[in-house]
This record gives sequence, C-alpha cells and structure tokens, in this order.
Amino acid sequence: MQNPFKGSLNIDFYTNQSTIKYIVLVVAAIIGVGSIIYTTQLVDVLKERERENIKLWAKAVEFTTTADGASLNFITDNIIRPDNSLPVIILDSATNEILTTRNIEIDSSLNTIQAEDFLKKALAQMKTENDPQPILFRDRPGSKIVSIQYVYFRNSRLLRQLSAYPYIQLSVIAIFAFIAYLAFSYSRKAEQNRVWVGLAKETAHQLGTPLSSLMAWVEYLRELPQMENRQDIITELNKDVQRLEMITSRFSNIGSDPTLKNEEVFEVIEGIVAYLKPRVSSKVSFVIDADAPNLTAKMNRPLFEWVIENIVKNGIDAMSGIGKITINVGQESEGMVFIDIADDGKGIAKGKIKEVFKPGFTTKKRGWGLGLTLVKRIIENYHMGKIFVKSSQADVGTVFRILLKN
Ligand SMILES: Nc1ncnc2c1ncn2[C@@H]1O[C@H](COP(=O)(O)OP(=O)(O)OP(=O)(O)O)[C@@H](O)[C@H]1O
Ligand SMILES: [Mg+2]
Repeated sequence: MQNPFKGSLNIDFYTNQSTIKYIVLVVAAIIGVGSIIYTTQLVDVLKERERENIKLWAKAVEFTTTADGASLNFITDNIIRPDNSLPVIILDSATNEILTTRNIEIDSSLNTIQAEDFLKKALAQMKTENDPQPILFRDRPGSKIVSIQYVYFRNSRLLRQLSAYPYIQLSVIAIFAFIAYLAFSYSRKAEQNRVWVGLAKETAHQLGTPLSSLMAWVEYLRELPQMENRQDIITELNKDVQRLEMITSRFSNIGSDPTLKNEEVFEVIEGIVAYLKPRVSSKVSFVIDADAPNLTAKMNRPLFEWVIENIVKNGIDAMSGIGKITINVGQESEGMVFIDIADDGKGIAKGKIKEVFKPGFTTKKRGWGLGLTLVKRIIENYHMGKIFVKSSQADVGTVFRILLKN
C-alpha cells in the first residue's frame, strides 16, 4: 500500500522541523541581545545623570568656600544637604586620606581598623565604577587653587539593579522554558508510549481469537480421511498459522513488559536467517560471523527476531536485487555484546543518518518509516541496549550496530 502520509509526513517534515528550530533559536537570540542592548542604553543614560548630580554637588561644595552668606544658605539647603542617596567617599588629593563619607553605613560592631578596611574596599569598588569628581578649593573666586579633594561615588542601587536586570530576566525565562520543554517532551513521550502499547495489545488480542480457531481447524483437517494424501497442504497451512502465531507473540510482547532471558545470540541469528533466506531473493547471500559463537545476551526472543528482520529487510531494500548481508556477533566490552548487521547496498546519505530512527522517515515509495522506530524502541526501551548506524557509505553499504547486555 502506498504511504498515505507521503508528502506531509516524510523528509520535508524533518527539514521543516529543524528549520523551525533554527528560527526559534535565532528569534530568541535577537530578543535576548535586544533586551540587553536596550537596558545597557538605559543604564548609560542613568549613569550620566548620576554623574551630573555628583558634579553639581561637588561644584556646590566648591562654591561654598567663596560664596556670600545668602548664597551659602541657599546652596547648602538645596544642593548639598538633600541626600541623593549615592554612596560617596571624599579623598584628600595631597595625602590620599579619606576625609569624609556619605550614605555609607559602617557596621557599629567593627573596630577602627576593620572600619578603615571596610572603607578601603568600598573605595576600591567605587574606583572600578566611576572616575572621581574633583572639588577645587580657592580663597576667592578666580584665585589660585588652595587644595583639591576627590569625590568617589558608587552607582546607585537602582542603576546596579537595572544593569543586572536583563541577565536575571533572561536566565529566569531560560530556566522556565527548559522546564516547560522537559514537561512537554515527557508528556509527549508518555502519550506515544500509550499509543504504541495500546495498539500492540489490541492487535495481539484481536489476532488471538481467530488464531486459536485456525489452529483447531488445521488439526481437524489433519485427521480428515480425505486429506490423508494431501498432508503437504496441512504442512503449508501449519507454517502460515505459525507465522501468525509469531506475529501475535511479537505484538503481545510489545504490549506488555516483556521478560528477558539469556539466549545464545549466534543461535538466535541463525534461526532468523534460516527463516528469512527462503523468503527473499536467492541472489541475496547471508554470512554470519561470530568471534565467540556461544556468547549469550539478555533478550526477549520474539522481539529481538523482529529487530533483526527489520534491519535485514532494510538492507535488502538498499541493494538492487543482488548483494550480501553479513551479521557479526562479538563481545563489545565487559557485560556488553555487539551485533553488527552489514549490507552492501546504496548506503544512507550523511545528513539523513540521524533521521532514520524517527517515525515517518522513509525514502521508499511504499515505506511507512516505522521499521527502525520500532527497532530502536525494542532495543532501548525493552532491552536497555543501544542501536546506531556504525557506518554508512554511498554504494559501499551500511552497518547497524546493536549493543545488548549479557
Ligand atoms: N540498510 C540501509 N541502507 C540504506 N538506507 C537505509 C537502510 N536502513 C534504513 N535506511 C533508510 O532509512 C529509512 C527508514 O527506514 P525504516 O525501516 O524506518 O522505514 P522504511 O523501511 O522506509 O519503511 P517500513 O516502515 O516499511 O520499514 C529508509 O526509508 C531508508 O531510506
Ligand atoms: Mg524498513
């Protein structure tokens, strides 16, 4: 049957999906960078304004030394005394000593040395944030400078909060998006699981009834006197019933928690090859290599057979009628067995290797793109093993590797 999803659920879907992913990433990056640039501009404006305030304040202090009584009162009351809340340290330019501080709270439990230390640290911090504003003292307006003091100041709390704001905001959004992504992907996986398991269970259940009746009919026919000379028919019928039984057992295993048993891998593979050989073109040859023929692995036999059958069939599809399937079994590492299934077909395009296990990915006219999805599911979810494309080269062939515990 032709795949009815063709065009809506094939390769286009996957290229589109990754394009969408890139678009989302780029838009997110633009929003992030944009909000950082915008806040940085705000911070710069505010910083300039704070600097102007300090400048005005320093000028006012400077002015007080030469001002007449009325102006002095006005300046002291309106500019110098009102607290603009910026932490400030004033340093004598000649001695480099701290003369006074404003808006800096020193913990009363500190002793003199500790308090001095505390102020030194505060001063160092101020030096990293802003250049100092000088206050020039003169005896009279326009006369020569008598002494200079430097006003060091910290950025206001508002300014500091504002510069940290986009980073905090973006981190919170990123964490939230990550958690939401995990939750969605978890619930999507759970949903997929329910569909797989439910459908498989139902199929096994539905096949079960006619199957047991078929088995009874075969036995009935076998005993019929008219069939005495036609036992070949019975044998063929029996083979088909057995095939149906195998399918049912695969579906019922995938629809439940399958039990894993220690099986001799080589022997299982031989069984599958013996089963497949008469069913495929005689121009396809099979070779089974085994470094250690009696290696065992923990597996659910009906499901594992299904896996090998799917991979081998894909291998045969990749050849143009003639070719060789080589299966190699060996010890990968302590407690791990590998099974390599190689074909000498047309290979998988480099960019598509990652896609082959995704549901719906197919390059075949009559493919569903479900074979390898099922294979991955059986190996990873039911056997806690691994499966991947070990190598694939155009017109040389493809090797799939399965890892199972032993
Ligand atoms: N051995 C291989 N050599 C080359 N291409 C392969 C091989 N195995 C898989 N592929 C590619 O991966 C795709 C997906 O394989 P998968 O078995 O999941 O689906 P399918 O064979 O197309 O359809 P079906 O659902 O009937 O198995 C194939 O269409 C093919 O393009
Ligand atoms: Mg297939």
